[in-house]
Amino acid sequence: MRPRALRARIFLDGGDPAGTRRVQAALGFLDGQTTNPTLMAKSPLAAAKLAEGGRFTPSEVMDFYRQVAREMAGLIPEGSVSIEVPADRDTSAEEMIGQGRSLFAWIPNAHVKLPITRAGLEAAKALVAQGVRVNMTLCFTQEQAAAVYAATAGAGPGQVFISPFIGRLDDRGENGLDLIAGIARMYAGGDGHVALLAASVRGQGHFLGSLALGADIVTAPESVLLDWAEKGLPLPGPEYACESSDLRPIAFLDIPLARRPEEYDISSDLTDQGLERFASDWNALIAR
Ligand code: G3P
Repeated sequence: MRPRALRARIFLDGGDPAGTRRVQAALGFLDGQTTNPTLMAKSPLAAAKLAEGGRFTPSEVMDFYRQVAREMAGLIPEGSVSIEVPADRDTSAEEMIGQGRSLFAWIPNAHVKLPITRAGLEAAKALVAQGVRVNMTLCFTQEQAAAVYAATAGAGPGQVFISPFIGRLDDRGENGLDLIAGIARMYAGGDGHVALLAASVRGQGHFLGSLALGADIVTAPESVLLDWAEKGLPLPGPEYACESSDLRPIAFLDIPLARRPEEYDISSDLTDQGLERFASDWNALIAR
């Protein structure tokens, strides 16, 4: 059962609908699901195919993704399912717009995931104007979050998510939860059209820390959600702080939200590396 005091929505981060069922059974609720190319490559059907040395054709791989997304959407009909546009550094805005429209039509409750690149922001602007819901992913800086806010100005309620990746900042010694805090503080001065979705959550500290910092949505892997259920679905108190003494703080930046999207510096080596990893995991599924 959803704890009464829980304000955030809880999503599962994973590519296997069997995991969706297990988490729903353990939690007694689930508000949505996020997927990405790496998670899809680990999904049992794809993983088994790869293990046998098999590959999908380009159209089969999209059929596979659509089938999994439909199964998830059926399990969480009132929630949201994020489906990622397969992209790399060279994918143009036009390609992302075409892919995004097609992915959005797969299920009634899709958010289309786009990377925070110049092309991704341009695609987001166009797709949002067409009524498509988007989830802007691979966010590693507050300035990227400001650019997403600006590029999607005018979006409707619930139409835009932003996914800052906590764990990958921690991986290089920076306190990823500080980015959640910084974006939440910056967005508090805005109109609320971008929902803050804490991602790359690796354990209870990230999960409870994101809730305590006021994330609108937290997506977490099955293991983290099952662990939370086992502990009795505890919620953090106002003083909750995740242990982070071995991590370097990320300072809050006073960035105005009113600039044009192209005026923000959206560069991040972690975004570049993340895109490469997603593209490589996705391309490994496909026979060329
Ligand atoms: O939600 C994004 C997530 O799937 C990335 O997590 O653990 O690969 O950094 P991770």
